[in-house]
Amino acid sequence: MSAPLKVGIAGLGTVGAAVKRMLDARRDALAGRCGRAVDVVAVTARTKSKQRDAELVRCRWVDDPVALARDPEIDVFVELIGGEGDPAKAAMEAALAAGKSVVTANKALLARHGAALAALAEQHNAALNFEASVGAAIPIVKTLRDSQRGSAIERVYGILNGTCNYILTRMERERLSFEVCLKEAQRLGYAEADPSFDIEGFDSAQKLAILASLAFGTRVDQDAVHVEGISSITLADLDAADELGYRVKLLGVAVRTDTGIEQRVHPTMVPKDSSIAQVMGVTNAITVDAAEIDPITLVGPGAGGMATASAVVSDIADIARGVRSAPFGRPAADLAVSEKAPMQRHEGGYYIRLLARDRPGTAATIATRLAEQNISMESIVQRHRGVRPQGGDRPGGAPVPVILITYATTEDAVRTALAAVEADGVIAETPQLIRIEKD
Ligand code: HSE
Repeated sequence: MSAPLKVGIAGLGTVGAAVKRMLDARRDALAGRCGRAVDVVAVTARTKSKQRDAELVRCRWVDDPVALARDPEIDVFVELIGGEGDPAKAAMEAALAAGKSVVTANKALLARHGAALAALAEQHNAALNFEASVGAAIPIVKTLRDSQRGSAIERVYGILNGTCNYILTRMERERLSFEVCLKEAQRLGYAEADPSFDIEGFDSAQKLAILASLAFGTRVDQDAVHVEGISSITLADLDAADELGYRVKLLGVAVRTDTGIEQRVHPTMVPKDSSIAQVMGVTNAITVDAAEIDPITLVGPGAGGMATASAVVSDIADIARGVRSAPFGRPAADLAVSEKAPMQRHEGGYYIRLLARDRPGTAATIATRLAEQNISMESIVQRHRGVRPQGGDRPGGAPVPVILITYATTEDAVRTALAAVEADGVIAETPQLIRIEKD
């Protein structure tokens, strides 16, 4: 058997401690499968004295992550510090420059500097593995990087944030408020330290940027992602979706279009009978659409210490076995600058919820404004305004909800039509608009 692979871990939070526990617990099994043992020989974290849920007695403590990254004893640097800047960035660069392979779960750093880090890894003949950065235990990075070579990928989309899916699921099933569900997600440890990062869609956007690069062979570009979160979604939207045969999910979608690669994260109506609509709770799901083959959907735990640790350990095991791929599936120099498709040109169906003033002519005005933009309606539902008091006056102008589903149109057309409806003064609040994504 070859000499053990020596690992240094930077960051001993929930994931770091779980990686250490998993490597210890599976030491013999891993040695059997990889042909060599994997030993954690050194660690670093922000606070040395903290009580941790992992056995660290035989590990050397190093104060500085950059020093650990360059440590001559280690073969692999496992970066679990997080964040797009230093010390994670400096440490990862130091490790790669020293020719050491890197395993990381750091989506923020990859989404911002992925192409440059891949070039550095290539230059120094080091591996850069990041399965844990997207979908935790779901092997989507390997699927896109190593398995999908035979056909051109046209679309990658999915539920990339466990916290948001958990919140939407509990709101829908238990009719709880957004705030109550968010507190529960935080208590259970799904949400990021700053939960706005999850609920405003930025976590999904970073993951989507990584997936788009792997799928389309482009340089990772987080700024190319159009981002909207779920904080504006109400129980009224979930009820309307249910009634119309849809469910609301926060989706990340990267798709090849005539005008370039469209990358977007936003609340999305998906048909209730689609496979993505069945994915509930903290579970993530990612679908790959490629030419000539039916879609492939991977479903699994997308958050949590053990789920993330299992992807990190699997990446370490690949290095131990001597399995190496280019970080983004092709030489760094071949990663193209992606042509960003403008969101205004996005085409699809739309759900629109309006609070319409209940007086003659309102429906006609709305219909006219939509028709002017060539928008065709698939369905329209107007809620009645309740029982009028006996003998009472008609409460002209009292607002009532109107829900519309459109056939495929463009973002530009919908925005123009709704701006005109608002200017006409026939609605009482800014319209709610949710894009529809078909299977
Ligand atoms: N906060 C993330 C989520 C965890 O809810 O999916 C892993 O990225």
